[in-house]
Amino acid sequence: MLLVAAVALFAGAAGARPVPAVSPRQPLPMSHKRHIAKDMKCRACHQGVEGEALASFPTLADCMDCHKTPQGHDPAEPEVRAFATSGQDLAWVRLNRLAGHVYFSHAAHVTLASMKCEDCHRDMHTVDRALTEADMHQNMGACVACHRNRHASLDCLACHK
Ligand code: HEC
Ligand code: HEC
Ligand code: HEC
Ligand code: HEC
Ligand code: HEC
Repeated sequence: MLLVAAVALFAGAAGARPVPAVSPRQPLPMSHKRHIAKDMKCRACHQGVEGEALASFPTLADCMDCHKTPQGHDPAEPEVRAFATSGQDLAWVRLNRLAGHVYFSHAAHVTLASMKCEDCHRDMHTVDRALTEADMHQNMGACVACHRNRHASLDCLACHK
């Protein structure tokens, strides 16, 4: 018991986070850069981002709005239609996830506080592959530091519900 506790303490002190043995594999390759260059807005694929807590992910039907017919000449592009005929569900692997006891709302930050996605996430205009790891390692210190600066709530129960 003592040994387990000591190891846990050591891992905690080193700031270790559980690292998945294998990178999560997204169901389809998809370049943010190339879609954004075609003038697509973030909210076209992340429909909850302005009005809801979760930004959400696009469905296969959203992709097929355009990919029913070939788009561009990338060799990966036909994979979208192949996936659609396979009858599988399009389940994106979610990479950014706070602990279950924390409440976060995109609407509060994007709409009420007029923040840009890049204030917290990497600049997706340059990302040319499906993501394999979280781009934020948000901790309480980072949230609270900005809340203090911007005179937003420091109430424990605003973030912990
Ligand atoms: C508004 C139309 C539109 C929607 C919606 C759309 N795409 Fe595309 N997609 C395009 C266009 C246009 C290209 C060609 C871009 C280029 O070659 O520069 C493309 C290219 C691609 C490619 C090949 C290049 C790359 O990005 O790797 C893949 C794969 C792809 N799309 C997947 C998807 C997936 C998955 C979805 C749904 C999440 C989706 N697309 C939604 C228009 C769209
Ligand atoms: C104030 C910082 C902040 C801003 C601004 C922000 N995000 Fe996020 N985003 C987060 C955090 C924190 C998480 C993890 C949330 C959780 O686990 O509840 C997240 C998760 C996500 C996710 C995956 C989970 C979900 O919500 O569906 C997507 C997609 C996403 N953000 C897209 C966006 C887009 C697009 C924008 C801009 C329109 C944006 N975010 C602006 C902090 C931010
Ligand atoms: C054509 C649809 C499409 C557009 C447009 C789009 N995204 Fe995404 N986004 C996705 C898909 C699909 C994923 C999951 C696969 C991946 O990571 O590539 C994703 C993943 C993300 C994630 C990681 C979420 C997580 O925690 O797993 C962030 C952050 C994000 N997008 C931000 C943005 C921002 C910011 C914009 C606008 C500048 C944007 N996206 C535009 C489809 C899109
Ligand atoms: C860069 C600045 C910034 C960061 C980082 C940030 N926030 Fe915020 N947050 C704000 C601002 C500004 C508001 C006030 C929005 C309004 O109501 O006008 C806000 C509002 C909120 C609200 C709504 C509070 C209420 O009054 O009900 C919650 C919940 C919240 N943030 C949680 C978080 C969490 C959790 C994190 C870290 C994962 C975080 N925020 C990171 C700036 C930030
Ligand atoms: C602005 C948002 C915000 C506020 C305000 C806030 N927290 Fe947190 N808290 C977080 C986030 C984000 C985490 C880390 C979640 C994760 O690791 O995924 C966290 C983590 C924690 C943890 C877990 C231990 C740790 O350090 O990871 C405790 C305990 C905690 N908070 C207590 C409090 C108390 C008590 C208050 C009020 C004095 C408070 N929090 C106020 C956002 C907030």
